[in-house]
Amino acid sequence: MAYLNLTSKFNDHLSNVNLMDYAFSISSIHRFLEEAVDEPTGWLYAPLNMTNEETDGILALAREIVENADVLVVIGIGGSYLGARAVKEALSPYFKKHSNGIDVEFVGQNLSGTYIKQLIESLQNRNFYINVISKSGSTLETSIAFRVLRHYTRERYGENCKERIIVTTDSEKGLLKEIADIQGYRQLDIPSNIGGRYSLLTPVGLLPISVAGIDINQLLNGSYQAMIDLNEADLEKNAAYRYAVLRYELYSHGYQVELLASFEPSLVFIHEWWKQLFGESEGKEKKGLFPASVTYPTDLHSLGQFVQEGNPLLFETFLHFKCFEEDYSVPFTELDDDYLNFLSNRTFNDINAISEEGTVLAHAEGGVPIIQIELEKLDAFHVGYLIYFFMKACAISAYLIDVNPFNQPGVEVYKTKITDLLNEETITN
Ligand code: PA5
Repeated sequence: MAYLNLTSKFNDHLSNVNLMDYAFSISSIHRFLEEAVDEPTGWLYAPLNMTNEETDGILALAREIVENADVLVVIGIGGSYLGARAVKEALSPYFKKHSNGIDVEFVGQNLSGTYIKQLIESLQNRNFYINVISKSGSTLETSIAFRVLRHYTRERYGENCKERIIVTTDSEKGLLKEIADIQGYRQLDIPSNIGGRYSLLTPVGLLPISVAGIDINQLLNGSYQAMIDLNEADLEKNAAYRYAVLRYELYSHGYQVELLASFEPSLVFIHEWWKQLFGESEGKEKKGLFPASVTYPTDLHSLGQFVQEGNPLLFETFLHFKCFEEDYSVPFTELDDDYLNFLSNRTFNDINAISEEGTVLAHAEGGVPIIQIELEKLDAFHVGYLIYFFMKACAISAYLIDVNPFNQPGVEVYKTKITDLLNEETITN
């Protein structure tokens, strides 16, 4: 049984794709990725290289945090933020605290004064740990938030503050590593050969996810399974490579936007993580699909109109999980003044699935090419599988349009500009 099914339908470009046409280029890229020792491809085998010792260390640290804190504050941005948040949101209850009673809050992903002030206020009567995450060790947004939180931790815990600060950074270099070495903060290593947006399955994602009460062993098992299944140069047998080819085919036919669509609101941050992964990996040299996302049915009542009848610049990728732990039935009522008894005893998940089927039919009728990714169950194993699937597909996609999946020169441009502006402002003030 496949853990992930990829299908496409209702569009000439997709149904006429001859996979054999891509066999040579895909197997060359496959070989290149396998052999590219100078590229940051450590994530390819991260699920295999993660030792039991490392996982046990993360689990022990997570237990310590849960026992001694009400909140874990995670500081980071981009690849040092989105993965942990994506998995936490996807697998946490909507309205309750995590099963272990702790909150996981994120900061450093924005520069809002209101946000940070309210975060500090919310910590006043609660015990907390902080986990600062930065591969480079010098990202402005992260560094400023860390300064604030470090200062506050010292105020609250005095000399003992060190015990409550965990630094996740490059295993070999960077300012954050220097600070951690000098101050004696505990450190978790990001392998040097794994870049930000490919680092979810390292301590970057694993510590916050584990603190949130999610089974990281299952997450890693799922990604390990994907690593085995998706290490196949043969396109017919490799769903990640087929996904890359379908996207490329649509891109070559003039489609400019890929809209990732789901019907489960807890997947919103999986969408955000996916957007960053593909956006930063492909969007360079004036190339690449623009990655956008919608959560239906919410967005059927906003962007749905555009998707159905607007500028035909986009195709849709539906992300669907078949089984959920929890569900609720529509009740039968004697009164039936809303005429909904025909739905009584049907469950919400059942109606949601039908709503998805109807949406796919409607959008296909409107001429929107559709790709469908389906997994059995929304749990840690399948989310781990999906994460690896997207990372592998993304690297292949970028090489298909002949760009480097692992750099982000455009992000560096904006960083330099704001640092220059801040320096100028400081001098003139
Ligand atoms: O994918 C990337 O490399 C980036 O999005 C980074 O994750 C982001 O810029 C944050 O960088 P750092 O982890 O160095 O603070």
